[in-house]
Amino acid sequence: MEEKKEGPSKGAVVVPFLVGFVAAIAFGWWGFPQLLYSSKSQPLNFTHLNHVQDYGIDCEDCHYFRPDGSYAGLPSNEKCAECHSMAMTSDPDEIKFVEEYYEKGVEVPWLVYQYQPDNVSFSHAAHKDEDCTACHPDVGSTNELPPYYENRLTKYSKETMKMKECERCHAKEGASNACQVCHK
Ligand code: HEC
Ligand code: HEC
Ligand code: HEC
Ligand code: HEC
Ligand code: HEC
Repeated sequence: MEEKKEGPSKGAVVVPFLVGFVAAIAFGWWGFPQLLYSSKSQPLNFTHLNHVQDYGIDCEDCHYFRPDGSYAGLPSNEKCAECHSMAMTSDPDEIKFVEEYYEKGVEVPWLVYQYQPDNVSFSHAAHKDEDCTACHPDVGSTNELPPYYENRLTKYSKETMKMKECERCHAKEGASNACQVCHK
């Protein structure tokens, strides 16, 4: 009998294609973000929830507006030292605060998930009525600070709010989206 001649079977073509396709997708979803972002952890694990719920401190004790309307933002060592000028327990983060930062006069280099590039103008005063979580990760209601993903190229965090997210709320709430509002 004469053997039937066949081209490469359908499977022989489809399978390598699928393998390549799956590899590309996997790289895009898993590999590329891994390469683009490096994960950093906060210098201290500050327990937001404990401080607010159990130790009775208000958000505004640490995050408040100065009389001139500017935002004080992050608390200084002095603020923490009102209660932690020396360690009251053997908690490693509390001891680290006292020994590595307070006693050495070095401010804690907190990582801010929401820092924007210099060409963006932002003030908290215009956003007093909005929830912190409209723009920030919800750090206030947890004891575990989320990991901070730094974009290796831009050096900004992955959580930094994108222009279109600012604009979406401005459009919704009738605030201006003229370029010079946010870019001075
Ligand atoms: C009004 C007082 C007060 C202030 C201000 C304060 N803390 Fe605390 N903190 C406490 C109390 C009370 C505890 C529980 C007892 C302890 O661990 O010393 C505590 C515990 C801690 C702990 C151990 C983890 C835990 O929840 O038990 C760390 C770390 C800590 N604080 C860091 C800070 C830092 C950093 C600041 C400033 C951003 C700060 N604290 C500001 C009262 C305060
Ligand atoms: C004792 C001081 C203290 C109190 C009280 C406090 N915070 Fe904070 N907060 C901090 C410190 C320190 C950081 C920086 C580290 C971090 O991101 O948690 C911070 C950061 C933040 C950030 C910025 C996150 C970002 O984008 O980097 C938000 C939002 C915030 N806190 C919300 C709150 C809310 C809401 C409350 C009340 C429920 C609160 N905080 C109470 C000390 C405090
Ligand atoms: C409309 C968006 C928005 C809201 C609402 C908002 N923030 Fe912010 N926050 C930002 C942006 C944007 C930055 C970064 C500013 C920059 O890069 O100069 C920032 C920075 C911060 C910082 C870092 C320190 C500083 O001042 O630069 C802290 C702490 C903070 N915000 C806490 C809060 C807390 C607490 C609330 C709620 C009471 C809040 N924010 C509400 C957008 C917001
Ligand atoms: C959750 C809603 C919301 C988000 C998100 C938001 N904004 Fe706004 N923004 C407003 C509102 C509402 C006003 C108008 C406030 C007023 O007129 O008093 C405003 C006003 C402003 C102004 C004008 C301030 C002034 O003094 O006139 C600037 C600048 C601004 N926003 C920048 C930003 C930037 C940058 C972002 C993103 C990082 C952002 N906003 C995200 C709601 C938002
Ligand atoms: C409501 C605030 C807001 C308005 C209005 C706004 N921008 Fe932006 N813009 C931002 C923020 C926040 C960033 C930084 C975050 C990002 O890159 O998305 C940014 C980033 C940019 C960048 C850099 C983008 C990049 O990928 O590096 C350009 C260019 C820019 N804006 C141009 C404009 C122009 C042109 C307009 C007017 C049509 C405008 N923006 C209006 C908030 C705003």
